Amino acid sequence: MTDFQRLLQGAREDQVSNFETHVNPAFSELLRTLGHRHSFVRGEGALLWDEQEQCYLDCVAGYAVHAIGRSHPRMVNALREALESGHPNWVQFDRPALSGLLARRLSERTGGELQHAVFSNSGSEAVECAFKLARRATGRDAVLHCDHAYHGMTLGALSANGNERLRQPFGDLGPSEQIAFNDLHALERALESRKFAAFIVEPVQGKTCRSLADGYLAEASRLATKHGTILIVDEVQTGVGRTGKFFGYEHDRGARPHMVVLSKALSGGYVPLGVTLVRRDLWRATFHSISNALIHSSTFQGGLLAMVAGLMTLEIHDAEQLSARAERLGERIASTLRVIQKKYPCIGEVRGKGLICGIALTPTLLERALASIPIVGSAVEPVFAQAFVMEFLKKHRVLCLATERATNVIKFTPPLVLEESQCDWLLRAVEECFHTISRAPTVHGIAHAVHNLGDG
Ligand SMILES: Cc1ncc(COP(=O)(O)O)c(C=O)c1O
Repeated sequence: MTDFQRLLQGAREDQVSNFETHVNPAFSELLRTLGHRHSFVRGEGALLWDEQEQCYLDCVAGYAVHAIGRSHPRMVNALREALESGHPNWVQFDRPALSGLLARRLSERTGGELQHAVFSNSGSEAVECAFKLARRATGRDAVLHCDHAYHGMTLGALSANGNERLRQPFGDLGPSEQIAFNDLHALERALESRKFAAFIVEPVQGKTCRSLADGYLAEASRLATKHGTILIVDEVQTGVGRTGKFFGYEHDRGARPHMVVLSKALSGGYVPLGVTLVRRDLWRATFHSISNALIHSSTFQGGLLAMVAGLMTLEIHDAEQLSARAERLGERIASTLRVIQKKYPCIGEVRGKGLICGIALTPTLLERALASIPIVGSAVEPVFAQAFVMEFLKKHRVLCLATERATNVIKFTPPLVLEESQCDWLLRAVEECFHTISRAPTVHGIAHAVHNLGDG
């Protein structure tokens, strides 16, 4: 038995009790309540297997990190080789070759406009860095963000969160204001105040799956430049091909972000990695001299495995034409979902771009239906989309998620290596799931879904 097998076997013996005693009992309880009782033991491409060797289609992909799929042989070999090579990691007094190369390749993908890369280990950290650099470049403190925005959980990133329930418990997070997503007039009015260091926005929102309108980012670029605010495009979820282009902002020809943040899929999901891509003059405002060379840094930035994973992800993305694949499959999914939508009035909107797809459930119908379910009433509202999610999992072995309570969006972010037959699997599941839930009169359909919730 290898060391890894021995560790894993030992860990499995007390898996639940260790987690509940020492990690997060509340999360464990939440999983139990929702009915997530599966333990997955193997993954390959877009598939996962549980202990009973049952196969599942993973349309969560670790919150959109596994763009190139799990167990990709080229990635696994490159990481193994890097570890076995004896190449020294984090010497801290050198200029790591692979960091320079990854930074250059990312800069090239911005057309050379964002020349500097500040590496980190998560999306939140990359956002923190962008905020710090924006403060230095503008001499202002405040951040402007959109409703339902999500940019991470660290204090700075949380200050730009569109969900009061997540912000409120943590007190004063730093100056920030919110505008409506996609509202250019609101953006212009806010920027005219000239008090914002940065405006941060997602090309497709992770929490709602709404996309920015064509031309929004071009105009936002112009307005931000005019009013001295840094435009940060948060590509943590949309970057590396998910929307059908390498960067989500590329759908808008006139978009000229001053900074871009990437993470999640940048390492293919194999090693934590984040990066803040910055225009040279803005980078210099912070790192302008020897005395400021390390004014922002972190111990693990630019680690060997992360850099190998980043470079390999770019190569695999190009070799397997993953952006084009995401665009093609995304169009197929969206057009089929629109056909399905016509049959089921509880589907309010089909959202997303490429392989970030959302089904927004109709709130008015939902409210009417829920109000008429005896006892259940408004208490079940937060679990309405979740009821669909459990139907997908239990009946169709498709893993997807419900974004957040207020939005009622069922979301799919499969790996970009999704195969056509797996796309069929997903679409069949959507059709059958809505058919089952809507087969009975609506109220009973929802009651059926809610009733099933949690039974395994
Ligand atoms: C758009 C966006 N930005 C930032 C983050 C934060 O990234 P992390 O969870 O790696 O800190 C996320 C995470 O889901 C995200 O979706």
